[in-house]
Amino acid sequence: MATAEQVKALIESHASNDETRFYAVALQVAAKAARQGHRQWAQALRDLVDRSRQHQKQLHVANLGTSNELVGILTSHQPTYRLEQASLSSEVASRLDRVLMEQRERQRLREYSLQPIHKLLLLGKPGTGKTFTASLLAAELKLPLHVIQLDGLITKYLGETAAKLRLVFETIQQSRGVYLFDEFDALGGERSAGGDVGEIRRVLNSFLQFLEMESSDSLIVAATNHPQLLDHALFRRFDMVIQYPLPSPQVIKHLLRSRLAVLNTEHVEWNQAVKACEGLSHGEIVRIADWTAKNAVLKEDLTVGTDAILMAAKDRRSSILRDAFND
Ligand SMILES: Nc1ncnc2c1ncn2[C@@H]1O[C@H](COP(=O)(O)OP(=O)(O)OP(=O)(O)O)[C@@H](O)[C@H]1O
Ligand SMILES: [Mg+2]
Repeated sequence: MATAEQVKALIESHASNDETRFYAVALQVAAKAARQGHRQWAQALRDLVDRSRQHQKQLHVANLGTSNELVGILTSHQPTYRLEQASLSSEVASRLDRVLMEQRERQRLREYSLQPIHKLLLLGKPGTGKTFTASLLAAELKLPLHVIQLDGLITKYLGETAAKLRLVFETIQQSRGVYLFDEFDALGGERSAGGDVGEIRRVLNSFLQFLEMESSDSLIVAATNHPQLLDHALFRRFDMVIQYPLPSPQVIKHLLRSRLAVLNTEHVEWNQAVKACEGLSHGEIVRIADWTAKNAVLKEDLTVGTDAILMAAKDRRSSILRDAFND
């Protein structure tokens, strides 16, 4: 049976929409039950976790009207994060606040023929929160998040890509939501050209035209960690460009504390823990915190010390393959 701490962790991970942690704790409960001889119950719980994970993966755009042709290009879900849960630099936070404010006041702006900010370009190293931001905006505005799988779009439908893009932009026009063009450089650079540079150029040009003409109530978010591959003509088509820096010491501390909130961290020397994480991305720090938390849960000792975080950070650093990103 689940311990009180596990129940608490389940509720907290559910409340913060942290699926990974939620399922990890559920599987720990199953493992414990199995050890105690409740085999059937443990198996039923594991099956339930598998089915729920499968269901999450299958959330597609069935309700978008033109959906059939968009399957495989666009996947949708409804994120539920809150801005308060994010660990953001003050610069990024204030830009996102501005976007949210203009979106919420969009009727008032439109009465004066003013357009709210709705075309965003997010730039930054891997793991610094670009994709996460799209979820955050969708959650705050209570809009569905539709992710356009650009890499798949181009490689699978080479030749038809412009027609597919038209369809995506028609959907953007018809159905208000947050539309994320992730790994956006796939459209703009040589990286994914696969030999046919002319084709990619044409796709990029149609994208620019669609973007230019677009004036819907949707939010278009393009993200890349290879800005150097993007054509400069692209930048001026966006209402706002947001740069994502690596986390500052304050942001690192906020990230660690919020991810370890279910544990007892009163003995942690935060300055040391933060130092051990300097230079790493948000994503890496989340992994360090989650590794620390899992070790504590598995050892059934929910008090975390500085050493545990330092060890996890050291471990993580030694396993990171350096990314080829250059500023
Ligand atoms: N500001 C933040 N606050 C809390 N957690 C964050 C924040 N930014 C990122 N994370 C965590 O880090 C993980 C990685 O972030 P994300 O996937 O958004 O990075 P990315 O910038 O899109 O990276 P990539 O360029 O590799 O796609 C997220 O799943 C989230 O758990
Ligand atoms: Mg991303």
